[in-house]
Amino acid sequence: CGIIGCIGRGDETLDTLVHGLEKLEYRGYDSAGIALLDEELSTCKTSGKIADLREKLDGRDLSGEVGIGHTRWSTHGPPTDENAHPHADCTGDIAVVHNGIIENYQPVRDELVADGHRFTSDTDTEVVPHLIESKLSAGLSPDEAFRETVDRLEGSYAIAALIEDADGLFVARNDSPLVVGLGAGASPDADGGAFFIASDVPAFRDFTGDVIYLEDGEFARLDGRLTVTDSQGSQVTKDVHTVEWDAEETGKSGYDHFMLKEIHEQPRALRQCLRGRVEEQTASVDIGDLADLAPTGVQFVACGTSYHAAMYGAQLFRDAGVPAQAFLASEYATSPPPVGNSLVVGISQSGETADTLSALREAESRGARTLTLTNTVGSTMDRECDHTLYIRSGPEIGVAASKTFAGQLTALNLFSMATAERNSTRRDVVPELRKLPGNVQKILDSSSAEAVADYYEDAESYFFIGRGYQYPVALEGALKLKEISYEHAEGFAAGELKHGPLALVDENTPVFAMAVGDDEKARKTLGNIKEVEARDAPVVAVTDGRNDAERYADHVLEIPETHPRAAAVLGNVQLQLVSYHIADQLGRSIDKPRNLAKSVTVE
Ligand code: G6P
Repeated sequence: CGIIGCIGRGDETLDTLVHGLEKLEYRGYDSAGIALLDEELSTCKTSGKIADLREKLDGRDLSGEVGIGHTRWSTHGPPTDENAHPHADCTGDIAVVHNGIIENYQPVRDELVADGHRFTSDTDTEVVPHLIESKLSAGLSPDEAFRETVDRLEGSYAIAALIEDADGLFVARNDSPLVVGLGAGASPDADGGAFFIASDVPAFRDFTGDVIYLEDGEFARLDGRLTVTDSQGSQVTKDVHTVEWDAEETGKSGYDHFMLKEIHEQPRALRQCLRGRVEEQTASVDIGDLADLAPTGVQFVACGTSYHAAMYGAQLFRDAGVPAQAFLASEYATSPPPVGNSLVVGISQSGETADTLSALREAESRGARTLTLTNTVGSTMDRECDHTLYIRSGPEIGVAASKTFAGQLTALNLFSMATAERNSTRRDVVPELRKLPGNVQKILDSSSAEAVADYYEDAESYFFIGRGYQYPVALEGALKLKEISYEHAEGFAAGELKHGPLALVDENTPVFAMAVGDDEKARKTLGNIKEVEARDAPVVAVTDGRNDAERYADHVLEIPETHPRAAAVLGNVQLQLVSYHIADQLGRSIDKPRNLAKSVTVE
């Protein structure tokens, strides 16, 4: 879900809100709406896309200089017009947008219904305007009514409310991101100027890069000036941060899809990740104070693509002699492993994924030190964890992760080199990390992935196999294809194929095999390739040419010769391109695949 709000934009308020919603589309959504406050409140909302909202707005005379907007990704109730935000109370004097889940909404709703409130949606959110209404009619001021309402809620929320009697915007957050943007003429401690609120900076990045991050439990009122208060009601002074990403970086720059653009941005993203952190002459790595962490054990927690990076990271540490494991974040808290002296590392592009946050909080409550590896400065994980290592990939708009996975693998190498492999004599990976941006560029310039995608676009199922560092890449290759093409795809450890999945393999199931290097691992993988070839399955080898894979493959996707750790990043670029082109040929909604969201802030 996404939230936008603004005040002080004059007669551009409506356009600013709709523009903000468009900028938030990448988070994934199934309905959208806005509310504006003039003398009276007016609301327009619909299931479907922003284009549908625009159509509905056409011809309607909506005006006002303060407003809120929302894109909804269903968690309670189906994507209908009624369930779209903003939600109103019975009088229509209050409008509310909300991200997250209100866990105690049922008893609150029952109580309100008993008091005569009439609900029109299935959402948990609708209790909020009704609660505010009941507090107002009990004689509270809008400020008190909003605060008391929020105090009553349990769960996670970022809430923005318009109240007709108060000429302003009320916001509160708990466990769900919310930022304030300071537009032209605005300052944190003076009257006047334009203010924005949003769940995510890109919503208003075209207007300002100066932001204030609200913390859990804080409230803000925007009414020509900004007033932030803590949970006790005391006013707090907030720091202003400046976001470096420019507005253009959130545009498509001539590519058909954000995802393709982001795949092509990988050389730059990796250069940013490595900048100032790798010294080639001495093969040393500098990640500042984080090097002092020297963990004696590491537990990684993550979801989706980031989980594949976690598997890779755990392997790096194990290979360096440090016990390390990767956990699916959603499983971690259900049966938490003993943390001992382990460092618990949450990997998350967004820094907001609820499952990962809750695993980190669980670890913290058991006394663990925590670190997040994230792309998002100022995200909740960034602020809550003891330490942060940024991957510096720049904003990623496509729902399916691409450049951030490359950034995660690269940053994990830096992290492992600087902490667990400090005194290692095996520094040979360092120059190969330096070469990564150039090697990725070579693949982007010469890949035959589109032809391979053409050839196999009608296949029944797609399998991906890999061993060692290439195993998480095989899983990621399959996930990417599933996410954006909606085709059936599975990834396996190469050696595991013969223990079951081989039964699925036939002439209609291409097998993408990561065949890298010329060591024992590569020879074993070659054996697995022969197993599928003998069952008539077409084989696509992703290879550096240092083994015989080409002999058994129907198609080859080449990568430059490099260290196996770096080969994982390179091989993945070929698989990203295959997935992209298959999805493109099938006409899929690549940047916003059905049923998926960029940042899943519910467990
Ligand atoms: C969602 C996305 C996935 C992503 C996962 C983890 O499920 O659809 O593509 O990998 O979240 O996201 P994170 O921001 O924590 O890396």
